[in-house]
Amino acid sequence: MKAVVFEEFGGPEVLKYVDLPKPVPGPGQVLVKTMSAGVCKADWRVRTGRSQWLTSPFPVTVGYESAGVIEALGEGVTGFSVGQPVHVLHMAVYGTNADYMAVTADDVAPLPEGMDFDAAAAAFNYFVAWGLLEQVVQASPGQSLYIGGAAGGIGTAVIQLAQHKGVEVIASASTEEKCAYLRGLGVEKVFNYKAEDDVAAVKRLSGGRGVDYVYDQVAGPAFCRQFDMLATYGQIILYNYLGGYPEDREIIHLLQSKCEGCYGIRYFSIHVHDTDPAGFRKVKERVLGLIASGAVKPPIYKVLPLSEARRAHEMIEAGEVLGKLVLHPEG
Ligand SMILES: NC(=O)c1ccc[n+]([C@@H]2O[C@H](COP(=O)([O-])OP(=O)(O)OC[C@H]3O[C@@H](n4cnc5c(N)ncnc54)[C@H](OP(=O)(O)O)[C@@H]3O)[C@@H](O)[C@H]2O)c1
Repeated sequence: MKAVVFEEFGGPEVLKYVDLPKPVPGPGQVLVKTMSAGVCKADWRVRTGRSQWLTSPFPVTVGYESAGVIEALGEGVTGFSVGQPVHVLHMAVYGTNADYMAVTADDVAPLPEGMDFDAAAAAFNYFVAWGLLEQVVQASPGQSLYIGGAAGGIGTAVIQLAQHKGVEVIASASTEEKCAYLRGLGVEKVFNYKAEDDVAAVKRLSGGRGVDYVYDQVAGPAFCRQFDMLATYGQIILYNYLGGYPEDREIIHLLQSKCEGCYGIRYFSIHVHDTDPAGFRKVKERVLGLIASGAVKPPIYKVLPLSEARRAHEMIEAGEVLGKLVLHPEG
């Protein structure tokens, strides 16, 4: 079978499209034939050696997520059947960018009947968005959020789930093309954060009140400015820190100096489910159901052949992907 592997950490050039033996499912595993594999920013973390969860030795087959069909069951597997369409997410072994993957049954979720494989391969973003909106906080109708750099996979998922819940969205991006994409998702309050100060824009677009939640993947030196985007009891919810740490490390002093706002900071990681597989199964079921019903529709930016995984990683690194990028095996 074909697979995309890397034998050293580095840029997209370390990815190789190679032949590997077709895996045989071991006890407790299922063999899944890949129909569509998602590519996401988190793949970059793994490929560059930034993931603390990688457990496989080199060569590592890349890829967190995919959707496909069960081709064989390993010893002791119950509750699944050959021919069943499933979603695969593995956050330690990876390996979905291949024609086939043998994966523990716990990391496989049944797809609702008739679900599109590309939409299913985008579900990981919506699991994260679900955590951000439903688990870290319970965002509710009438509340508001701001999300910056929102035209990527997770930004899109947060926007769509928020709209589905009746939460008001303010979103930004770095280019006019990305802002147009955000408007196309139905967001009315959009601004280009390169052209307008983000704190001023969020204040303006929230009528001076501020928002209940700021979703932030960047943090960075200017992190603390974002307190000025918040309404009373507002929270900043981090899901990465691409820009590094805040310059102002005296955060507690700063929070005290703004104590009339009673602000909070949370950090969400999907790895919160590592110790709660039953809870994660319920999240997957709810989210896959929402996507299958058409309540939220993952926009597919491009479908590339699996052999072009390197190009897919270059596109993710260039920040050009609007929504979700997926790979299709060629076999
Ligand atoms: N916490 C978790 O459990 C979890 C799970 C999965 C992924 N993540 C993280 O979630 C983030 C989004 O993932 P994704 O798959 O949605 O990514 P994506 O599709 O590549 O989108 C990322 C977007 O972020 C913006 N951005 C802002 N600063 C950036 C920077 N320094 N480098 C690159 N892009 C930047 C870009 O938009 P602009 O050009 O408009 O700024 C881009 O559109 C990533 O940081 C990823 O590591 C977190």
